[in-house]
Amino acid sequence: MKKIVLSLAAIALAACTQQSVQQTQWTDAEIEQKIDEILPQLTLEEKVALCHAQSKFSTAGVRRLGIPELWMSDGPHGVRAEINWDDWGYSHWTNDSCTAFPALTSLAASFNPDLAFEYGNAVAEEALYRGKDVMLGPGVNIYRTPLNGRNFEYLGEDPFLASQMVVPYVKGVQQNGVASCVKHFALNNQETQRNSVDVEVSDRALREIYLAPFEAAVTEGHAWSIMGSYNLFRGQHCCHNAVLNNILRNEWGFDGCVITDWGGAHDTKEAAENGLDIEMGTWTNGLTSSSRNAYDGYYLAKPYLEAIKKGEIDVKTLDAKARNILRLMFRTNMAKNIKSGCMGTDAHFATALSIAREGIVLLKNENKVLPLDPQTTMKIAVIGENATRSMMGGGSSELKSFFEISPLEGIKSHFPKAQIVHSMGYASGPEMFGRVLPSKLNADSLMNAALETVKGADLVIYVGGLTKAHEQDCEAGDRVGLELPFNQNELIEKVMEINPNIVGVFVTGNAFAMPWIDRMPAIVQAWYGGCQAGEAIADVLTGKVNPSGKLPFTFPVKLTDNGAHSFESAEVYPGRFESDSKEFYKEDILVGYRWHDTKNIAPLFAFGYGLSYTSFELSGIEAKMSGKKLTAKATVKNTGDCSGAEVLQVYVGKKDSRVLRAQKELKGFKKTTLEAGAQQTISIDIPTDKLAFFNEETQSWEVEKGTYVVYVGTASNNIAAEIEVEI
Ligand code: BGC
Repeated sequence: MKKIVLSLAAIALAACTQQSVQQTQWTDAEIEQKIDEILPQLTLEEKVALCHAQSKFSTAGVRRLGIPELWMSDGPHGVRAEINWDDWGYSHWTNDSCTAFPALTSLAASFNPDLAFEYGNAVAEEALYRGKDVMLGPGVNIYRTPLNGRNFEYLGEDPFLASQMVVPYVKGVQQNGVASCVKHFALNNQETQRNSVDVEVSDRALREIYLAPFEAAVTEGHAWSIMGSYNLFRGQHCCHNAVLNNILRNEWGFDGCVITDWGGAHDTKEAAENGLDIEMGTWTNGLTSSSRNAYDGYYLAKPYLEAIKKGEIDVKTLDAKARNILRLMFRTNMAKNIKSGCMGTDAHFATALSIAREGIVLLKNENKVLPLDPQTTMKIAVIGENATRSMMGGGSSELKSFFEISPLEGIKSHFPKAQIVHSMGYASGPEMFGRVLPSKLNADSLMNAALETVKGADLVIYVGGLTKAHEQDCEAGDRVGLELPFNQNELIEKVMEINPNIVGVFVTGNAFAMPWIDRMPAIVQAWYGGCQAGEAIADVLTGKVNPSGKLPFTFPVKLTDNGAHSFESAEVYPGRFESDSKEFYKEDILVGYRWHDTKNIAPLFAFGYGLSYTSFELSGIEAKMSGKKLTAKATVKNTGDCSGAEVLQVYVGKKDSRVLRAQKELKGFKKTTLEAGAQQTISIDIPTDKLAFFNEETQSWEVEKGTYVVYVGTASNNIAAEIEVEI
């Protein structure tokens, strides 16, 4: 089946000629000159029309001047199937399938910025083929709580890691003349009450943690667009919050377009004056109801036009928006050279596979249970619904993939001589309108069938985890707890009682509790691997691929070990919805491992952690200051008997700081692939200004003088040396 689908895709769509990505484009000066010429020719009405949706995913152009419509698509894991003009139904085109790339969590876990570039480039090639000018993604909201339903769409809990991955992703997309729309700006760290939660956070946490990856995307990645988030920050909706002008534009020099999240605008004057450019909507009147062609009711449509005509809002605000939008167009759909793109190519499928493979994290491997011999004739019982369940949903990042290799298919094709049987063990229930209906299948029967299946097996491969449905890894609602759903813990315990020879493969976008961990000898964290998920998982199980992924966020033992949940107060999570919807980020800058390290709370699995089938040793560790940079050095040696990759990680902490500090913060990393016995000396430079904290009194970044500790290791909890340096 897989082969047939692949070859159809290849015949239909592999017409992508290798076009040079280095193409001549308009210079900044040329663009501004062109805009100067166009702006005076536009009527007020035409300019206003540029600023709001005309359909679910497009804005109007100016036909008489040849200015095209602007077309957008979700993002971030591939180009979403076509949505109807006026409603959320799919259009059922026959040529809108895409390559489903792994979730961004998988990319983050690869700790490989080169893959981020490849990812962005491939997604943009598919976007071009489909005529999309703006790709809505990537998302860089920091992983604050393991309950956030959208963590799978983001790049983990560490601002440095997220920054290192978002910059090449954006560059990969934009070198094709497609804009990246980095989302959701800002503080959209949960899905519960996402439209009304009003975040209060210190300036330090705002700058050092939550805004940092956006800042990198803008100042280093030169992102051409940013999506405002649904939530409020200090009483003002983020789509027209003062930070857009104050920080994004004035401080960071952002010259692109701010686009609302769909239905994220709530006030014409604020939207006009606070730096928003384009209003998109969930419904045709902006937020709440749907009627045909009612886009005129948007805040940046007729109400804006009328307010300008009445002199209530300065027309300069409109000229600024029109300028930003035209600039975006000259970079994309009015570029000098526009590529035609390509869809579903072998290269894209290969990129998807590389990311899925490199993202997989080996969490536990007692007695070297893994890898398994691909020639085995064992009887393998594959238990769990995620062995066969499609994982293409999850809300707006849902994809219509050319194909999807399930874990069961991957296992079957990689162990041709084994006798493989599958039993679901549990059923999550069908999805309808984003909600999960209770399964009609009997839970006891499913469990009993699974227990029967494992009885005669030589090995159990348990494939479970979460799904992409509501209250799991899905938009518009958070998870209800850290536990695995659908009674999986009980199932796992019972399976292990009968057959302790078990390997756990977990498909999730979030951390989860593992009360049975002591009894499970091998654990693989597999993420949502896109169309190649099953192939990548089986590659790791057989050792065709040596796992090299590292956790991009902490797995806490229990929920209250996490900073935000430690307060056990609605005020800190998910917000006090009984009264003013305020939510106070009281853990402040101590997010993720920063909390665990500083408060001395051992995680279940630490940030940056991940095993390999080989072993590595660090030696010759040095750290020294010279001029305006700190240089950390270490020799990484592969001391095992197979080739593998390791990630050297450099964290820095400040001794005796006058402000609150995390024990240590990631400031540099480098992944290296080494043959058995080989070694490499890696040197990582950290500019000293990257050691700054945000001084709330002076409202500026400040590098404290004094002693810093440089931690060099291969995980946040596996540090080989601590070296003091002076600034
Ligand atoms: C999501 C965005 C998405 C948009 C358009 C919103 O609900 O929050 O991430 O890009 O819908 O589908």
